[in-house]
Amino acid sequence: MSSHGTPIPMISEKSGPLSGEAHVPGDKSISHRSLILGALAVGETRVTGLLEGQDVLDTAKAMQAFGAEVEKRGDTWHVQGVGVGGFAEPDRVIDCGNSGTGVRLIMGAMATSPIAATFTGDASLNSRPMARVTDPLALFGARAFGRSGGRLPMTILGAEQPVPVRYATPVPSAQVKSAVLLAGLNAPGETVVIEREATRDHSERMLAGFGATLSTEDSAEGRVITLQGRPELRPQEIVVPRDPSSAAFPVCAALITEGSDVLVPNIGLNPTRAGLFTTLREMGADLTYENEREEGGEPVADLRARFSPDLRGIEVPPERAASMIDEYPVLSVVAAFARGQTHMPGVKELRVKESDRIDAMAQGLRAAGIGVEEGEDWWTVEGRGFGDVPGGVTVAARLDHRIAMSFLVMGLATEAPMMVDDGGPIATSFPIFEPLMTGLGAKIARQTG
Ligand code: S3P
Repeated sequence: MSSHGTPIPMISEKSGPLSGEAHVPGDKSISHRSLILGALAVGETRVTGLLEGQDVLDTAKAMQAFGAEVEKRGDTWHVQGVGVGGFAEPDRVIDCGNSGTGVRLIMGAMATSPIAATFTGDASLNSRPMARVTDPLALFGARAFGRSGGRLPMTILGAEQPVPVRYATPVPSAQVKSAVLLAGLNAPGETVVIEREATRDHSERMLAGFGATLSTEDSAEGRVITLQGRPELRPQEIVVPRDPSSAAFPVCAALITEGSDVLVPNIGLNPTRAGLFTTLREMGADLTYENEREEGGEPVADLRARFSPDLRGIEVPPERAASMIDEYPVLSVVAAFARGQTHMPGVKELRVKESDRIDAMAQGLRAAGIGVEEGEDWWTVEGRGFGDVPGGVTVAARLDHRIAMSFLVMGLATEAPMMVDDGGPIATSFPIFEPLMTGLGAKIARQTG
């Protein structure tokens, strides 16, 4: 089932050269944060380039429920913030749909205000672990009442008198780090988060941009982020960069589709996000960075991806996992068209995403004729090389946008078409996926009847 409606079965089949420019939408992580920090600032934040995917729209609605005004006029989103500590108690259940980022960050943002809020989501989100966030929020004085196993639906009672926290994240998760930092905003004194492995740092960059006092230091314990509580956040003009995680799909499609040459302009190459592109280049991909520059303090380039028939399987370093955690599904597709094994260790977080992504990909890849071995925190794909991947099966998307898009990319180069039972979830992160890909020449379609 799609996240918000009836299933949309989709098919993709062997395609001729992909060519042209792929203008992918705004970054999902940065879009959520723009709305949440905008809601916590005093005055009007204006955002352009916001990803208008369902996940982000659900966060916009949630911010309205907490008292912020959020409105789109022309191409710009206007967020009238209520200030740190200014959230009102919502009079309705907060439905975050499919979005783990949305719910976890919003829980953090409200946990140090003396209000209650009840959160729910779709079947995927309601099966995901929330204790990773509610455990540290309890240290601030917040209380959580959810289903067994720490699952949604869940009510959070925000702390009446929050205390600051020093917290070492037990899992490499930017969502957990961000929830703690957002909670720390309304706690007096210094909140400290320590992460052993660096995860995406958009919250830190954006908090500093909104005027919070925040420092990051690398130490023997890991990365130590210190935030001074109770700042007055100043509204910002935000231009959301394009999403490298969405760019991954047209890039990988071009690499495995004969004769392709695709330009994906304006992609953020923040080192905490760009691991996939490094990995693809190590596999021998013809992927170049053009027009490298800096925009808004972030490295940006236009990516050019060309058909790469001689890809090799590689060992992906585990320390790179956090910088490409959302890209393993589509990497496993590229690995199927490489020669030899691609081994991906250190990835147990993949098991608690929108779906268990190792299991979802392994089952679909095996059905499509590719050998996959897996353990709790690793998997290995046996590449067959270009021109020798059978395909010809229907796979389950499991309410997971990236699983659906990965198998649709795969079908562009398999011998027989690939079918996905439900492409509906694609709208959560990449609503223009289908027209963008068909515009490049990809044969991707909805199945009717
Ligand atoms: C995100 C963090 C990652 C990622 C997700 C977006 C974020 O999750 O998978 O798509 O915006 O902070 P984890 O923090 O759970 O690794």
